[in-house]
Amino acid sequence: MNPTQITFTRPDDWHLHLRDGAMLAAVLPDTARRFARAIVMPNLKPPVATVAQARAYRERILAALPEGSNFTPLMTLYLTEATTPADIIEAANSGLVHAVKYYPAGATTNAAQGVGELRRVFPVLEEMQKQGLPLLMHGEVTDPDVDVFDREPVFVERELSQLRRSFPELRMVLEHITTAEAAAFVRESPAHVGATITPQHLLLNRNAIFVGGLQPHHYCLPVLKRERHRQALVQAATCGDPHFFLGTDSAPHPKHAKESACGCAGIFSSHAAIELYAEAFDAVGALDKLEAFASFHGADFYRLPRNTDTITLLREPWQVPDEVDFGGTPGVPMRAGSHVHWRLR
Ligand code: NCD
Ligand code: ZN
Ligand code: ZN
Repeated sequence: MNPTQITFTRPDDWHLHLRDGAMLAAVLPDTARRFARAIVMPNLKPPVATVAQARAYRERILAALPEGSNFTPLMTLYLTEATTPADIIEAANSGLVHAVKYYPAGATTNAAQGVGELRRVFPVLEEMQKQGLPLLMHGEVTDPDVDVFDREPVFVERELSQLRRSFPELRMVLEHITTAEAAAFVRESPAHVGATITPQHLLLNRNAIFVGGLQPHHYCLPVLKRERHRQALVQAATCGDPHFFLGTDSAPHPKHAKESACGCAGIFSSHAAIELYAEAFDAVGALDKLEAFASFHGADFYRLPRNTDTITLLREPWQVPDEVDFGGTPGVPMRAGSHVHWRLR
């Protein structure tokens, strides 16, 4: 099977950073062209920690949408040690908050106000379990003694296994998984435990950070891993298992903040997101599995209706610009200066 075009149910992005202000206005149209909905990450400064903040952020996103767009932002709350069970009840009843995001304090971009010790928020998790509100996780330990490349498997072993035992009914998503260990844990979990997988972790291994010199635009968290892990993720994404669904983790940062002595983590992929997934699936002859991964599994997990319209991708290479505008500051998109092999019609 080597089709020149594919048409399938419009996808959703279950893990997306839209930022705010001018950057939001600059990056949102790329997502809105491709996806019907997105789970919007709450790691703004200050974080989106209350329903009132989520409602206001949602209004800013809607105001930034291009004319005529039907895109729907699905909001999340940033879990802090100040979050209360009452906040969870309010969120569950709000109709606009679809999940709560757990950042281990200091684990990633804007995670300083995350949770130091999970035990401190157990009453909150108890309420989430009761309300059926999913917990989304940046699944890496922050222990400085743990090797950066092992932080996800150690999180799975130390924290996630415990969490699944303590809260057996809690709906959970292990976000942007990067290792065979994480994929195995999720595969063996009940249906209410899921995982998102990014395009970069399906297409690149850790060589991409270092080959030909240090490549800051391939730096994200969790960091890219060995080839065997990439292969395990491709297997998880393309085997039809409903635990796994699309989440780009597209994370725009200004070019100057990436190309810096202390470059920040995050890869921008919204300009070619579904096209890049198509490449990854095509590479293993699994284009027929793309629709379920991109358009069905996430909606089913979040108990939302599947989309009813479609998109079409053409097998037609196009060159990604060296830079794009991130709202008055340049940004460097994934594949900058080289080709993407599928084009959105
Ligand atoms: C994300 C960001 O920039 O907000 N960066 C990243 O490398 N993935 C944060 C995150 O998702 O961990
Ligand atoms: Zn993260
Ligand atoms: Zn993210």
